[in-house]
Amino acid sequence: MNTSCLQNQRIILGVSGGIAAYKSLHLLRLLTRAGADVRVVMTQAATEFVTPLSFQALSGHSVRVALFDAEAESGMDHIALARWADCLLIAPASADLLARCAHGRADDLLTTLVLACAAPLWVAPAMNQQMWRHPAVKENCRILAARGVRFIGPQVGEQACGDIGAGRMSEPEQILQALTQSISAQDGQPSGQLESDTRGLDGRHVVITAGGTQEPIDPVRYIANRSSGKMGFALAHAAARLGATVTLISGPVSLQTPSGVQRVDVTTALEMAEAVAAVEKMDLFIGAAAVADFRVARPAEHKLKKQSGKMGQTLELVENPDIITTVSRRDPRPFVIGFAAETEKLVEYAEQKRVAKNMDLICANQVGPGQGFDQPDNELLLIWSGGRRWLPRADKQQLAFAVLETYQRIQKEQEHASYSS
Ligand code: PMT
Repeated sequence: MNTSCLQNQRIILGVSGGIAAYKSLHLLRLLTRAGADVRVVMTQAATEFVTPLSFQALSGHSVRVALFDAEAESGMDHIALARWADCLLIAPASADLLARCAHGRADDLLTTLVLACAAPLWVAPAMNQQMWRHPAVKENCRILAARGVRFIGPQVGEQACGDIGAGRMSEPEQILQALTQSISAQDGQPSGQLESDTRGLDGRHVVITAGGTQEPIDPVRYIANRSSGKMGFALAHAAARLGATVTLISGPVSLQTPSGVQRVDVTTALEMAEAVAAVEKMDLFIGAAAVADFRVARPAEHKLKKQSGKMGQTLELVENPDIITTVSRRDPRPFVIGFAAETEKLVEYAEQKRVAKNMDLICANQVGPGQGFDQPDNELLLIWSGGRRWLPRADKQQLAFAVLETYQRIQKEQEHASYSS
């Protein structure tokens, strides 16, 4: 991982109370090894799990806990500390810490810094899976995400309490990677893994579908879904930045076309299929659109009228063509990346789709209220025949670069395999 963007970064590492606090010692070591200047601020609860002395030994600086500490304030007071930081990273971020941040509390040093610090804030939540699923926690996360707070994780897995589910803090290496990608993207650079290869898609034609389709019922009504197009547009932007010629075939969305991208607007799945078929040559196809699987067989010519309290007509649905399957049957065949939007059995259903639709890589995302669709950020599990890669919560722009980077990596692996066989 190229962590050069962390060199000389001034980072406040906030540690709140939770068993995952011990992992933050390793995170601190990774950050300092990458050349970052780190100051640790702990909540009182965090000191129940790990001693401030451990963080002090690793950071080489005294650790701050109390807001009203005359001695510490005479060195760098909390406002000076807030101004000093280039970024604030809280790992682990407990449910209580997230709640206090969401509600603008300033009842200890760490939450005061969150308010006083103008630098970007990253949080790596960690809590019991039932707590993570609680609507109050979800709402607090939504409030924070809407304010621009970046979430890293949490992960799904076995928890210290024995439960299995989402809520484990991301591993320190994953946090480091997400932070690096995010800072690189802010600096106008793509993810560190791309290293100097910033025009890595030069000369390639990338075709991307985005947004949802609308299937008419009558002249005023249609069947649609919640896709905003953000993921597909982020991919188009990233591919263009990497030097590709990009054709973006989009359902009805209210997004600006990324610069350097050729956009084709469509409404229905049939129109989207036709627009894709009209592209003669492509090197990479990405199906990020939420295409309606079915359309109304015979849309009414005039607005349907309700009859005695109900619609007087049953809608007959017919299957739409599967665009991505058609693309993966092309000869010559492009590299094919698809998405799977699932509400349950994410890995199982995504893997089934990858095989059934003959995709080279599938990006699986859990969708539901406030998740996946129409959100600025997301988390993705990338699955291909040779491996998997988990992309923790990050904004869709960063995810787009990471997806393209994975594509480049798989292609390189395939090239090596074909040389050596
Ligand atoms: O647009 P956003 O608000 O940013 O939200 C992003 C997203 C949630 C829409 C995106 O991340 C996503 O998951 N897109 C795919 C949604 C979907 O329709 O998944 P699916 O499981 O139904 O389809 C699987 C794959 O087949 C997809 O690549 C889809 O584009 C493709 N497909 C589906 C049906 C069809 N008739 N033709 C297709 O090509």
